[in-house]
Amino acid sequence: MPRKKFVAGNWKMNTTLAEAKALGSAIAQGVGSSSKVDVAVCPPFPWLVSVSEVLKGSSVALGAQDVHNEAKGAFTGEVSTGMLKEAGCKYVIVGHSERRHILGESDLTVHLKLHAAVEAGMHVILCVGETLVERERNLAERVFQRQVYSALAGITDEQWPLIVIAYEPVWAIGTGRTATPEQAQLAHLFIRSKLQSMHGEKIANALPILYGGSVTPETAGGLFSQPDVDGGLVGGASLKADQFLAIVKAAGA
Ligand code: PGA
Repeated sequence: MPRKKFVAGNWKMNTTLAEAKALGSAIAQGVGSSSKVDVAVCPPFPWLVSVSEVLKGSSVALGAQDVHNEAKGAFTGEVSTGMLKEAGCKYVIVGHSERRHILGESDLTVHLKLHAAVEAGMHVILCVGETLVERERNLAERVFQRQVYSALAGITDEQWPLIVIAYEPVWAIGTGRTATPEQAQLAHLFIRSKLQSMHGEKIANALPILYGGSVTPETAGGLFSQPDVDGGLVGGASLKADQFLAIVKAAGA
């Protein structure tokens, strides 16, 4: 079965409440109640409940940008899977490079968060990707192979359908320097072939691998036409409804 394309918007630390509601409404209206493409938006934590309201009746799913691995307790500032689910989230992004590199998240932390999320039945968008220095030193494949392996170690057969990988080269995020479709395809194929040798063809072929890093309406078509690019995780261009909807359209909606 061909993999369904998936486009997710990562709003990061942007939008006021009014902007978030307007953006969510415009995307919900543009996508409608059914779509050939899976679509999700990931607003900041304080806006999740309000955005969930405006998405009602549409096929746009809600996601969070991060989660803590513990279920509750003395973890000041953190948010649990239970809270996210109650706020209406189906998805959660785990291991975004901004969390790994700016906030110092380790592979172990990413592993624990990912496992907590799938154990709670949430869908996870696991971000992996190399920095510019790592690419220049020919370490790129080693880096994202390590990130994929460590995050996904111990995933059970029932949990695999909850996993989405986003390949996001750090040098392409927010820089306007999109990876070429060929660079993205090579990385995605590498990840898929490693998953295949570790977990078998069925799991590797079913798993969506998104590309992220300066995806725009102009670059989306070329990227999404690659056989192993199953959609995009979009930052900057997800903050403008018309641009985000054009990217969803490029994915085949
Ligand atoms: P960008 O961000 O599209 O602004 O490069 C992508 C991401 O960080 O997920």
